[in-house]
Amino acid sequence: MASRAINKQYNPLFSDPALLNRNTLSKKLRDICCVIVTLILISIICVPIAYVLSTVFMLFYDTEGKIIDSLTTTVPPVTSRSTTQIPITTTKNPNIPAASCRKRVIGYYTEWEKAEVSEKQLKKLTHVIYLFVNVQENGTIKFDSDRAENRFLDMKNKAMTLNSGLKMMIGVGGHANSVVFSPLMKDVGKRKTLIDSIASFTDENDLDGVDIFWVWSNSDDKLHHSKFIRELRKRLNDLKSAKRRNEEYLISVIVPPSVSHLDSGYYLNEIMKHVDFLNVLTYDYYFNGNRVGPHSPIYGGTRGNIDETMKYLACKTKKPNKLNMAVPFYGTFWINASLPLHDDSDDIWKEKGDARGPYAVRWNQLDSEKWDKSSARFHEKSKTSYIWIPETKHFLTFENEKSLGEKTKYVKEKDLGGMLIWAIDQDDEENTLLNVVSSADVCSETEKKSVEYNCNN
Ligand SMILES: *[C@@H]1O[C@H](CO)[C@@H](O)[C@H](O)[C@H]1NC(C)=O
Ligand SMILES: *[C@@H]1O[C@H](CO)[C@@H](O)[C@H](O)[C@H]1NC(C)=O
Repeated sequence: MASRAINKQYNPLFSDPALLNRNTLSKKLRDICCVIVTLILISIICVPIAYVLSTVFMLFYDTEGKIIDSLTTTVPPVTSRSTTQIPITTTKNPNIPAASCRKRVIGYYTEWEKAEVSEKQLKKLTHVIYLFVNVQENGTIKFDSDRAENRFLDMKNKAMTLNSGLKMMIGVGGHANSVVFSPLMKDVGKRKTLIDSIASFTDENDLDGVDIFWVWSNSDDKLHHSKFIRELRKRLNDLKSAKRRNEEYLISVIVPPSVSHLDSGYYLNEIMKHVDFLNVLTYDYYFNGNRVGPHSPIYGGTRGNIDETMKYLACKTKKPNKLNMAVPFYGTFWINASLPLHDDSDDIWKEKGDARGPYAVRWNQLDSEKWDKSSARFHEKSKTSYIWIPETKHFLTFENEKSLGEKTKYVKEKDLGGMLIWAIDQDDEENTLLNVVSSADVCSETEKKSVEYNCNN
């Protein structure tokens, strides 16, 4: 944290030797009068200045309480949004048990995968989010290519004919495209262009909302990020009124799995006021860095795990029902790994050493890439599935029916808002994985909407 020492500069008003060395009484009296008048003048002039300066300083002060105040003074607060209810109305679709208790089953559907989404798949979702629409340097957004747009339109047509209450959203940004966000956000004019562009895009394409896909906001961005979300909410509410729409447009924001990153890069409670939910990308815990380990562990390990991430967010925001836990339909593998898995140890977290990777492999590619799914084993501690081939030293960590079952159990236990799939077009033709997620009973017995974590330790 940067030092906040106040710069105590030399001040001629209080250290002028001529003021200190006067010796006649009259002079002293005059001086006393002078000092009193000066002090009064100082108070009159300085108090408002100090007030203004402290208000400005608040904007940059690094605590969330302060930031909320300073933001509240600039934009009128959004009309009261319920904090105890999940703001979705997708209870029409009886095919998804989760929808009956207002939990979400959200699917990302991408512009780049091969498989085309089917109506059958869309029926199993409460929300579908199309990835991506591209943000340009001047703040306007558009599809990357004709292919991207056509694939979106195909999805939209299928969704429209369903009439299942499915919500259709678009992911704004993307991994590579994220570099444009930071400079855009800092420029008030360009930020407004982006917000206007998102609103027109949402309107023109009959979308129910947007997912802000910025990888990642950091400590320099967090103020702009939260202002952006707030201004976007206001803009979409204006659009809602203009369109005489009954329901508010949906806004979601992706956040990283790393607790330290969540802590440094986001004003979470400020964002929470304006979004319908956070999409927590709870995977890739071991994708970067010098470690080998499970892709999406619920517990254990040295680089964080789902429980740590979700507990942090639930305790910090007190809104577990606004948190969606992501599950990957792709796996991660290393070759020439030296794991002790062929022994008795359950230690699948290792230094990378001479292993090469990580590489990603889609669920629907496993067979053609010669991974034998039936040889998968289950790691109890992390609740993840893996394949270890001692002869070739290949190590694959991935989701299958069993590990997804554990994840749906976790969502139910912790009464989270729902699940988010990356990505439905990586599933096989039988929808093996989507079936597990969408048919799971994630409705908790209590439905208390309370925090099911011990936040005191
Ligand atoms: C923004 O930039 C894109 C691509 O550079 C350009 O096609 C578009 O016309 C620009 N829009 C505005 C409003 O300047
Ligand atoms: C595989 O790992 C071993 C040590 O475990 C190392 O000596 C060897 O060079 C590695 N081979 C490749 C192809 O990376």
